[in-house]
Amino acid sequence: MQGLIITFFMLFFASFCSCNARLLDVVSSKTIFNVMEYGAVGDGVTDDSQAFLKAWNGACGKSDSVGTIEVPFGKTFLLKPLLFNGPCKFSKVYFKLEGNIVAPNSTEAWTTSEDKTRWIEFIKVNGLVMNGSGQIDGQGSIWWKICKNDSCQRPKALSFKNCTNLSLSGIHHINSAKGHISINKCVQIRIRNLTITAPENSPNTDGIDISESNDIVVQNCTIATGDDCIAMNEGTSNINITTVNCGPGHGISIGSLGKNGNFATVKDVYVNNCSFFGTTNGLRIKTFPNGNGYVKNITYNQIRFYNTRNPIIIDEKYKDIEQVKGFEIIGLRYNDVSGSSATSVAIDLGCDSGEGCIDVIMDKVNLTSVSPNDKVTASCNKVKGQETSVSPDVSCLTKKLSLY
Ligand SMILES: *[C@@H]1O[C@H](CO)[C@@H](O)[C@H](O)[C@H]1NC(C)=O
Ligand SMILES: *[C@@H]1O[C@H](CO)[C@@H](O)[C@H](O)[C@H]1NC(C)=O
Ligand SMILES: *[C@@H]1O[C@H](CO)[C@@H](O)[C@H](O)[C@H]1NC(C)=O
Ligand SMILES: *[C@@H]1O[C@H](CO)[C@@H](O)[C@H](O)[C@H]1NC(C)=O
Ligand SMILES: *[C@@H]1O[C@H](CO)[C@@H](O)[C@H](O)[C@H]1NC(C)=O
Ligand SMILES: *[C@@H]1O[C@H](CO)[C@@H](O)[C@H](O)[C@H]1NC(C)=O
Ligand SMILES: *[C@@H]1O[C@H](CO)[C@@H](O)[C@H](O)[C@H]1NC(C)=O
Ligand SMILES: *[C@@H]1O[C@H](CO)[C@@H](O)[C@H](O)[C@H]1NC(C)=O
Ligand SMILES: *[C@@H]1O[C@H](CO)[C@@H](O)[C@H](O)[C@H]1NC(C)=O
Ligand SMILES: *[C@@H]1O[C@H](CO)[C@@H](O)[C@H](O)[C@H]1NC(C)=O
Ligand SMILES: *[C@@H]1O[C@H](CO)[C@@H](O)[C@H](O)[C@H]1NC(C)=O
Repeated sequence: MQGLIITFFMLFFASFCSCNARLLDVVSSKTIFNVMEYGAVGDGVTDDSQAFLKAWNGACGKSDSVGTIEVPFGKTFLLKPLLFNGPCKFSKVYFKLEGNIVAPNSTEAWTTSEDKTRWIEFIKVNGLVMNGSGQIDGQGSIWWKICKNDSCQRPKALSFKNCTNLSLSGIHHINSAKGHISINKCVQIRIRNLTITAPENSPNTDGIDISESNDIVVQNCTIATGDDCIAMNEGTSNINITTVNCGPGHGISIGSLGKNGNFATVKDVYVNNCSFFGTTNGLRIKTFPNGNGYVKNITYNQIRFYNTRNPIIIDEKYKDIEQVKGFEIIGLRYNDVSGSSATSVAIDLGCDSGEGCIDVIMDKVNLTSVSPNDKVTASCNKVKGQETSVSPDVSCLTKKLSLY
């Protein structure tokens, strides 16, 4: 009997311990997976992709309890296009980024890559917490000049697909070839304390792109890039954007919706306590006239503009395509919005599609010109709703007296 038990244990351990390191992992209950232990060099030149994948496979799949992948401070890791696949063993996994990650300094790394639209992508990962004071550098400048048009694909820096309960915080994102952070088919996303920067003239370098996702919080982020600070695209709902400093850039946008005549919806959006600095747009809704769908229940609260070209804009003629079906835009609230416009039309509600915009409420809106002696105006087309204490006056809206 005793012999049998000993044999059992020997077999048991033999199945685990092909080397001492493994034995150590087992007895010390391994949960930390530092990329340096998996052969990363961190000199910014050597390709550390395989080391990251091994560390990820450990933290995601082999950890004894919730795993942590660690990227140490003071080093720079060059990564080729890379996929981090889930789901992981536990419904939580930590990615501690204290060091820097840098993209290849040539487009060649993508010539053999099947998917030229991404650099680093997380798929089907649940409960990822990615934080730290590190930096993710997309080396976009090598792309911006040589690959500008729509038919030339450029990689987004960081993509999340089909993820749940994702938390991103603290990290600096710079110079992506295309968008910096892309969220698609995800639920329960918390994005806090990020800075995202790229030159004002860099093409399509959106800060955060969200599509087909629900339950999202973006809080306390500074985003200064060459395109939208945040873009909410088709299939997004329940989004809370609070305390975002945006600019330079193209503003916080809903859309563009309905590209290629698609059906698209965005609803239940709350944009609160945000500032815009020298942006081309502020609060923008843009739809392709040949698409269809709806935009519903959007609230903008406590918004400040500093030298913004189009502070409030709805553009339903986006890209000058002929209208086919059109969008329903129902329930827009602009509350406590102030600041300076760099153009004479500070409010431009071009609700050209379908029934126009319905239930638009503006309350305490005060926009002025950046030039002290100039006046600003509002332009509107097919808009129904009410205004209380709005300057410049929006002629489409019914005036209501302030209760205060
Ligand atoms: C680009 O990276 C390679 C190694 O990946 C290095 O040898 C080369 O010096 C770098 N070139 C520039 C311009 O940074
Ligand atoms: C990262 O997140 C974890 C889990 O929420 C937390 O314990 C840790 O303090 C965070 N680190 C930083 C640098 O924010
Ligand atoms: C787009 O850019 C690529 C590469 O930069 C070029 O080969 C292609 O001809 C361009 N296409 C158009 C339509 O301009
Ligand atoms: C996401 O992945 C899960 C498996 O992890 C799958 O069951 C589900 O259908 C996927 N959802 C979407 C929207 O792709
Ligand atoms: C989501 O993650 C947070 C911490 O990051 C955790 O407290 C919470 O329980 C998770 N929620 C679900 C539904 O897993
Ligand atoms: C954001 O930063 C604040 C102040 O430094 C800190 O208290 C908070 O924990 C951070 N949030 C996250 C999610 O890291
Ligand atoms: C906001 O985020 C920045 C980092 O981008 C951090 O330094 C600051 O402490 C955060 N503030 C709050 C109130 O969370
Ligand atoms: C949005 O988030 C802020 C900050 O976390 C919170 O105070 C506010 O209640 C949220 N608003 C909605 C409508 O979810
Ligand atoms: C409108 O959206 C907010 C979130 O911004 C949500 O709390 C509220 O329930 C929504 N209202 C309706 C009528 O759906
Ligand atoms: C509102 O934004 C300002 C400026 O970014 C910030 O200092 C303040 O803490 C924010 N207020 C709240 C309640 O988040
Ligand atoms: C509107 O803003 C201007 C410029 O900041 C200011 O001088 C004016 O008093 C404000 N008007 C109202 C009614 O708040």
